[in-house]
Parts: sequence; C-alpha cells; structure tokens
Amino acid sequence: MIDSSIIAIDGFASTGKSTLAKMLAKHYNYSYVDSGAMYRGITYAALQNHWITSKGLEEAKLFEGLKSINLNFEPLTNSLLLNGINVSKEIRTQEVSNNVSKIATLPVVRDFLVKQQREMGKRKNIVMDGRDIGTVVFPNASHKFFFTAQPEVRAKRRWEELKLSDPTADFDSVLKNLIQRDAMDSQRKVAPLKIAENAIEIDVSDLSVAEVFTLLLKKIES
Ligand code: DC
Repeated sequence: MIDSSIIAIDGFASTGKSTLAKMLAKHYNYSYVDSGAMYRGITYAALQNHWITSKGLEEAKLFEGLKSINLNFEPLTNSLLLNGINVSKEIRTQEVSNNVSKIATLPVVRDFLVKQQREMGKRKNIVMDGRDIGTVVFPNASHKFFFTAQPEVRAKRRWEELKLSDPTADFDSVLKNLIQRDAMDSQRKVAPLKIAENAIEIDVSDLSVAEVFTLLLKKIES
C-alpha cells in the first residue's frame, strides 16, 4: 500500500531538510512535521529535569519522566510546545545538540515518538523530515527523499544560523558536533540513519534552496 499523503525527507544534519520540507508543505497545502524537534524536545526536558547530569544520563528517570511529557506543534507557526510551553528556541542550543543523538539512540524514546508521528500521519497530509521517516515511521510514503552534503558545507550553514542567537558560536565545535552526530545517528542499533528503499538521494552541497525545490517538485510530479 502506498501512502500518497505523506512526503518523507531524511538525511544528514543541516542539509536543509526542514527548509525544503516547509516549502513543499506550503506548496501542496500539507502540514509540516519536524521530527528532529521532537527528539530535541525530549532532550531539553531531560536537561531541565536533571535526567542528564555531568555523570551522564539517568535512564530510569528519563523513562519514568516520559509519562509526563506532552509534545505538540502549534499549527500556525510550527512552534514546538512542551507541556504547553513554547520551547522552539530552547531546543536549538548547542547543549541540546550535543546531547540529542544520545537520547535518540534509546528504543523507549524512539517508540514513544514514532507512535505519535504515525498518529500525525493518520490525521492529515504531511511532509515530515528526520532520519528514519522513510525507513521506519512511514515506509509506505509515496515520496521519499534522502539529503546529503559535505560536512563543511553543512557546518557552515549551521554555524551561520547559530551565530544569529549566539555570536560566540565557534565553527570548529559546530563541525565536530555534526561529525559526531552523523556517526551516532548512522551507527545506532535502532532506526539508524540510512537511505530508505525507493528514496531519491540528493547531494545538496552545490545546489541553492531554489534549485533543490525545483528538483523535488520535478521528482514528485514525474
Ligand atoms: O533534525 P535535527 O538535527 O534537529 O535532529 C536532532 C537529532 O534527532 C539528530 O541528531 C538525530 C535525531 N533524530 C532521529 O534520530 N530521528 C529522527 N526522525 C529525527 C531526528
């Protein structure tokens, strides 16, 4: 069965998945779901509640704590609400980025979020971006894309974004974090980052946003 109301965009961090996913959602009048924001939301909650400390992650506390976590997206702005509070800015800090891949390796966390993501797909037409959308969450999505790009190109994008909120952001640590996240995301046991069957791979290193958008529309409509 092909799920024609779902467009899945997976790929490496900072390849422009969310920018393009938003553009597609607007073009087709679909809803946009940023699944990475959900993993970041759990990570932010874990940091706030001291389930992650300097000694490491207290898994038992996190598993118990999941019961009290409610994640939603505010429909108009796509802001992430954690128990009703907008945490869109807080989930983009380097501290959350440094811890999120570890949280995303935990099967309990993945089950918790994948269930919610599938529910979102039942209710409406969506474009969802992430790491396992075409492989695990919606293996029957009618359109699947996989974005790649050179690590330096991606780190530059992320660094420029970060500098807007943190002028002290340092390129080398951004690059190091990206490379570490790529490794953890690709090598984890559950739902590793990999290209899905039938997905179209796009190397965006030398393409502008407009060029990627045109390419996606061409592929979807062909
Ligand atoms: O897309 P992002 O960089 O905001 O995602 C943050 C982290 O969440 C990323 O390092 C891996 C994880 N993630 C995941 O494991 N599965 C997804 N579907 C989306 C994100």
